Amino acid sequence: MPILSSLICALSITGAVGSSVPKAKQFSQEFRDNYSILKHYGGNGPYSERRSDGIARDPPASCAVDQVIMIKRHGERYPSPALGAGIESTLSKFDPKITYTGDLSFFNDWSYYVPNKCLYNAETSSGPYAGLLDGYTHGTEYRDRYGHLWDGDAIVPMWSSGYGRVIETARKFGEGFFGYNYSTNAALNIISESERMGANSLTPVCYADRDTATCDGLTNTMPQFKVAAERLNAQNPELKLNETDVYYLMSMASFELNARASSEWINVFTQDEWVSFGYVQDLNYYYCAGPGDKSMSAVGSVYANASLTLLNEGPEKTSPLFFNFAHDTNITPILAALGLLTPDEDLPLDRIPFGNPYSTSDIVPQGGHFTIERLSCDKTAASEAGSYVRLVLNEAVVPFNKCTSGPGYSCPLEEYSTIVKGILPDYVGQCKVPHKDPKSLKFWWNYNSTTELNYRNGSVPCQEAEAER
Ligand SMILES: *[C@@H]1O[C@H](CO)[C@@H](O)[C@H](O)[C@H]1NC(C)=O
Ligand SMILES: *[C@@H]1O[C@H](CO)[C@@H](O)[C@H](O)[C@H]1NC(C)=O
Ligand SMILES: *[C@@H]1O[C@H](CO)[C@@H](O)[C@H](O)[C@H]1NC(C)=O
Ligand SMILES: *[C@@H]1O[C@H](CO)[C@@H](O)[C@H](O)[C@H]1NC(C)=O
Ligand SMILES: *[C@@H]1O[C@H](CO)[C@@H](O)[C@H](O)[C@H]1NC(C)=O
Ligand SMILES: *[C@@H]1O[C@H](CO)[C@@H](O)[C@H](O)[C@H]1NC(C)=O
Repeated sequence: MPILSSLICALSITGAVGSSVPKAKQFSQEFRDNYSILKHYGGNGPYSERRSDGIARDPPASCAVDQVIMIKRHGERYPSPALGAGIESTLSKFDPKITYTGDLSFFNDWSYYVPNKCLYNAETSSGPYAGLLDGYTHGTEYRDRYGHLWDGDAIVPMWSSGYGRVIETARKFGEGFFGYNYSTNAALNIISESERMGANSLTPVCYADRDTATCDGLTNTMPQFKVAAERLNAQNPELKLNETDVYYLMSMASFELNARASSEWINVFTQDEWVSFGYVQDLNYYYCAGPGDKSMSAVGSVYANASLTLLNEGPEKTSPLFFNFAHDTNITPILAALGLLTPDEDLPLDRIPFGNPYSTSDIVPQGGHFTIERLSCDKTAASEAGSYVRLVLNEAVVPFNKCTSGPGYSCPLEEYSTIVKGILPDYVGQCKVPHKDPKSLKFWWNYNSTTELNYRNGSVPCQEAEAER
């Protein structure tokens, strides 16, 4: 063999040895239909973070958060008594003496996860998705993220609307955030849910809502639910399920995860059936508590306006930390007031508009929360020193409409203020707040620093449907 070719041969052998360990891909190329059940049960099932646009959650190096205003929905819970009644009527179509087969064969060993009607409405406390755990974990995560805004000494107010599971979420969050110091340094303020609180409320209502027709006409059914009923009935000839039953069974499946680590009911329905179920939820939020009800942006303007005042006052005037707790349907009006995630056209009732920005599981899953951050930023090559605003929904940064010129695609505070002032409707006038009721939100500036409400005093009422205070 000539010297040259033997040299080439040796080199190529060396090369082959060097590459004999196959290199793993740095990035998986799979998105598996981009499907997760967590994104298709609306607001019924466990929390999941919002699918983001890729914007980093942490602010860029030139900025630090100097004020936080959060509103969190209560954590994972049991169904409401009304939904529970529907679920129970569907379950009564199953005969305990029959052995079920096919997709329902697990049913013979299954039991309902609500053994006691008193649990309806309550926060869950069992399993990895438990609501109380969600509140606590979220508190510890925010301590890590925003702990620099507490000096370790000040008494920090928190605000909860006056509803059992909401108050319990606030308390668990506080225990997580303040840790050993919760009993002395948090001051829980409970704001009544009475509509007579007018604008001084975390749960304001529109006294004169004239846009409820579409909401009232929603049926909660989809053609795919009939297909599911037909399939299950064919596998079990004694069964007489219809599409309404399928709606209740799918609701029951999503809520099961709030109390148990897994639900066999999830797999009874196909991926495409879950896509339909998710859209039923989107329609409900959009038309009953979101931008599809023209009164809702007026309701949400209460919080949007008051938080704008806080941002302009800055952390020195009052406090850097504003942790608030209420319900899903108190968050969706705020987003509507800010023009966030509002689709260009009303959601269609006769088909699913794929690519819909109003996807409930990304907006108000159980434990969902909306966090407004005020950033204090140094001058960079692309932006001036000053205050900026970022809106974070379920831990994903949501660009504020067209205002993204700041660091980390934030909006300069001055520009944010001008835009928000320009779009906010007039709650008091549009919703016809009675003369005697409060006309603006005051409790952020006028709060109690006592710790007496930090813990529950007394027994848990059955079905925490009643406002506690
Ligand atoms: C869907 O795709 C986005 C990227 O386009 C990715 O971030 C997300 O994790 C995917 N979701 C699922 C459930 O695969
Ligand atoms: C917070 O808790 C720690 C640990 O118990 C304690 O050392 C510290 O004094 C507490 N801070 C205040 C302000 O009470
Ligand atoms: C503060 O406490 C007083 C007396 O208990 C109560 O009347 C008032 O509503 C409380 N204010 C807030 C904001 O919780
Ligand atoms: C399904 O059956 C229940 C009775 O079990 C009934 O109340 C409901 O109206 C039915 N749904 C439809 C769409 O017919
Ligand atoms: C906006 O909030 C401020 C106080 O934060 C209040 O004085 C004003 O009345 C509010 N405006 C509206 C339209 O609610
Ligand atoms: C609990 O409530 C009762 C009656 O409302 C009251 O007498 C008692 O002092 C309270 N206990 C605590 C620890 O706040």
